[in-house]
Amino acid sequence: MAYDGTSNRSRNRTFPEILQARKSRRDVLAGGLATAAGAFFAGSMAFAANESAGAATWSLNRAKRRPLIDFAPVTVAAGTGPWPAISENYDWDVLIPWGDPLQPGGPEFAWPPTAAQQAEQIGIGHDGMWFFPFRKKASSGRRFDSNNHGLLVVNNEFGRNMHILGKPEPESLADVRVSQHAHGVTVVELRKIRGTWQTVKSRYSRRIHGNSPMAFSGPAAGHALLQTVNANIPLGTLNNCAHGVTPWGTYLTCEENFDDYFGATNLNNTWVPTLSQQRYGFGENGGGYGWHAFDRRFDLSDPEYANEENRFGWVVEIDPMNPVQLPVKRTALGRLKHEGATVTVGRGGRLVVYMGDDERFDYIYKFVSDDNWKAMRSRGESPLDHGTLYVARFDDDGSGEWLELSMDIPDLASAFSDPGELLINARMAADIVGATPMDRPEWIAVAPNGDVYCTLTNNSERTTADAANPLTPNADGHIIRWRDADRHVGTSFTWDIYLIAEDTHGTEQSFSDPDGLWADPDGRLFIQTDGGQQDGLNNQMLVADPATGDLRRLFAGVTGCEITGIAVTPDRRTMFVNVQHPGNGDPAQTNFPAPPDGMTVPRDATVVITRKGGGVIGS
Ligand code: FEO
Ligand code: CA
Ligand code: CA
Ligand code: CA
Repeated sequence: MAYDGTSNRSRNRTFPEILQARKSRRDVLAGGLATAAGAFFAGSMAFAANESAGAATWSLNRAKRRPLIDFAPVTVAAGTGPWPAISENYDWDVLIPWGDPLQPGGPEFAWPPTAAQQAEQIGIGHDGMWFFPFRKKASSGRRFDSNNHGLLVVNNEFGRNMHILGKPEPESLADVRVSQHAHGVTVVELRKIRGTWQTVKSRYSRRIHGNSPMAFSGPAAGHALLQTVNANIPLGTLNNCAHGVTPWGTYLTCEENFDDYFGATNLNNTWVPTLSQQRYGFGENGGGYGWHAFDRRFDLSDPEYANEENRFGWVVEIDPMNPVQLPVKRTALGRLKHEGATVTVGRGGRLVVYMGDDERFDYIYKFVSDDNWKAMRSRGESPLDHGTLYVARFDDDGSGEWLELSMDIPDLASAFSDPGELLINARMAADIVGATPMDRPEWIAVAPNGDVYCTLTNNSERTTADAANPLTPNADGHIIRWRDADRHVGTSFTWDIYLIAEDTHGTEQSFSDPDGLWADPDGRLFIQTDGGQQDGLNNQMLVADPATGDLRRLFAGVTGCEITGIAVTPDRRTMFVNVQHPGNGDPAQTNFPAPPDGMTVPRDATVVITRKGGGVIGS
């Protein structure tokens, strides 16, 4: 759909106006489906009509427009308890639970698994993912992307020791290896056979886990801060949260809370965290995984492995169609607690990557490639290696600025000795240029009309409000929206707040802690949650139409789980969504998804969503 390149001037609002808009939105939600008071011409149809023929025509068009969403929502009352609930117009089925064999004939689920078994099984903590269809040839000779056969690439974000090992701490290096092999990424070949999706024998299916060899690329590759005294090769990707997809068909997996896996045995009592380690949250006990007690690589106080922690916190490129490809850590995108890496193509064919750094008071980033992505690739350059990294400043008047993070900025040139050091400490560079501290940036979605949405999940520690983060504390999160100048590549933008979760509480649209987010090509917004929901709800997935204010619950998960990850087949008639950490791994809460005989442990799994009688998911 067309992007008209201009910003919606109605978004240039002052802080009081934003609060006023927020109030009117509360009325909108209370009334259910309603007109969204003027300020929210988010649909491109609405945008074009308004520009060309005036508001009267726009209203007429909208009145005639077929609603984007017409399913019966899951009620608040139905969205509770130990089993999922879906709209009566939809069906769901379970696929690839943690521990299933990666392909037929592989090791069957056993609990706890051995490290060798786990390396050939589906990983745990299903999160961001994407479906890569196989190209097929019709009898007419026409080639097409299959809706029934392809590779699902799934991030395996994390699993707690109790859930994976059945004990709170590893007791041996063998235990650590099990946990490491459960983390990372799963590439699995799927085929719909007689109406049911299943894993099939595959030369593509593979696990990329916490001990898989990795390559580095971009300005920090080869940097001294990425070398250890031990000279061990780079191994592993960890805490793989959300993702991105490039126009050339590769998958980006994002390393989020990597500090959790490191700790310090501190045997000589000499270890204290450096400034950089402090800024990235490293501490003596890490996140409680206890790997550092048995695997020296994760011991921050072991001098032979100093700098190992700098090898995590990157966006990693995986080519699913090349099963022997070494995953590449793309350093030009900066080292952060990367939630996701949402890719779009901006003016001039330049590659644009939007990224949230999910921690309280951390930032939103953007990477723009130096040139047209096709031209770069034809020269043998990766568009992910050559470009400019920016961080966002949101001003209270509804405008904003992308601040460059490079050695061309005098304050950064005096703080860092080279581009590699800057990128390895991207958070500290962002501090120096004055980025806006946000309420935990999670997923980012680019709508077909060019609007960009970012979930800000919550911030229990905020005591001072600004217009972009207006709640103190922000218990339940909000969704911010902006439009960049110059079709995604410009350095200025205008923004507004799209939704404040608290405003939905006590209504049938109740949700909290927005996290997963995806905009489909029709302009529907899929919103997933991760956190304590109000009104007794489990974590859930809702579908929104920003042009009308419609917001409906499509799916609700089980007790103790998070709903995360969205992938679709090319026809969008199959959607894959993840139920992460059901029951928080505790069998007393749920046995989802019905464990085999004798097994009681709940298992993270993908859910396949279809519309009864067919139809685009979300409609
Ligand atoms: Fe992995 Fe911020 O969620
Ligand atoms: Ca998340
Ligand atoms: Ca989250
Ligand atoms: Ca999570």
